[in-house]
Amino acid sequence: MDGIVAIDPDGPDEAFLGWCDVLLASARHGLGALHAGRSPEERRVQLRDPARRALAFATRDEHGDVVGAAWLALPLHDNLRLAVLELAVHPDHRGRGHGRRLLEHAEGLVREAGRDLVVADTQWRAGSEDVHGGFARRFGYASAQTNLRSSLALPLDRDRLTAVAADHDGDGYVLRTALGGIPDAWVGARALLGRRMSTDVPLGDLQLEEEAWDEERVRADYERIVHAGRTAVDTFAFAADGSVAGYTQTTVTSDPTVVYQQDTLVLREHRGHRLGLRMKAANTLALMDHLAGPATVRTWNAQENAPMLAVNRELGYAEDAAMREWQKELR
Ligand SMILES: CC(C)(COP(=O)(O)OP(=O)(O)OC[C@H]1O[C@@H](n2cnc3c(N)ncnc32)[C@H](O)[C@@H]1OP(=O)(O)O)[C@@H](O)C(=O)NCCC(=O)NCCS
Repeated sequence: MDGIVAIDPDGPDEAFLGWCDVLLASARHGLGALHAGRSPEERRVQLRDPARRALAFATRDEHGDVVGAAWLALPLHDNLRLAVLELAVHPDHRGRGHGRRLLEHAEGLVREAGRDLVVADTQWRAGSEDVHGGFARRFGYASAQTNLRSSLALPLDRDRLTAVAADHDGDGYVLRTALGGIPDAWVGARALLGRRMSTDVPLGDLQLEEEAWDEERVRADYERIVHAGRTAVDTFAFAADGSVAGYTQTTVTSDPTVVYQQDTLVLREHRGHRLGLRMKAANTLALMDHLAGPATVRTWNAQENAPMLAVNRELGYAEDAAMREWQKELR
């Protein structure tokens, strides 16, 4: 017996809520007391995402309390070798073998599922260092990519944003923003952007394949966002001939002071027109219209993604944490 208990998002609340608590306590311990983690409702939706098979499990201490938590996401549309792992031990229970038991169990499940590539991450505050990376390395994981987390405090100056969003040289691009989902007419374009987003961004050493996006997956993804209690704010750029040039998406969580910057992509053939900055400025204006008061927008970018980091700094983002992705091929 490895003392592992399976976690079912539809099962008894005690085990599931204990599992959510461990993930949140661990994240706050590393990233600060005000770190916004996922609520249990968001975790439920995450575990039920139809695009991935989720396997969640936990360890308990001698009193029966959940103290270690992990889950694997197995993509179902593409990347069929891959399992993405999130694993954390409650800060008060570290150094007692929970991490090892969870990791060994996770790798066993990955093998059973016929997969052989595991990706996990470690995170730390700016000014600190990757204290948990040693655990990943201890078990044969190699550093595959380092990402910087940046935050933007809203509101920003409207006039400046309006000027940035409008900045163009008569190049004919048009920006459009949609709240709470996108019009049907954009769904095909969003599928193309989803495919390209998965490989047009720097991937470091991550062995990721292009993602398979079709209209059905796009619609399911917007439904997932609604079920998670979030509001999507999408800004698309269209070229003069009506073809899509890029998009950016933010999602407002059920706590309206916490916003996540999701994808931003300008298709290669449309780069060089400041569309990344213009779309983000337009999106930020829409966010400010939607939000009642101050909020923080968070984003993660590969540290080698200089153009995106430059756009973010120009908007006002400041780096405040980092995340490293670790990869292991199981033999
Ligand atoms: C990293 C983490 C999961 C370790 O959990 P833990 O229960 O303390 O780990 P264990 O007690 O099972 O340790 C297992 C082995 O890893 C080693 N280890 C644990 N943390 C380590 C670290 N930060 N650096 C180097 N080695 C570490 C232990 O010394 C032990 O080695 P041994 O087998 O040679 O004795 C825990 O600190 C944590 O939750 N961190 C925050 C979330 C995170 O970063 N997750 C990692 C995802 S890869």
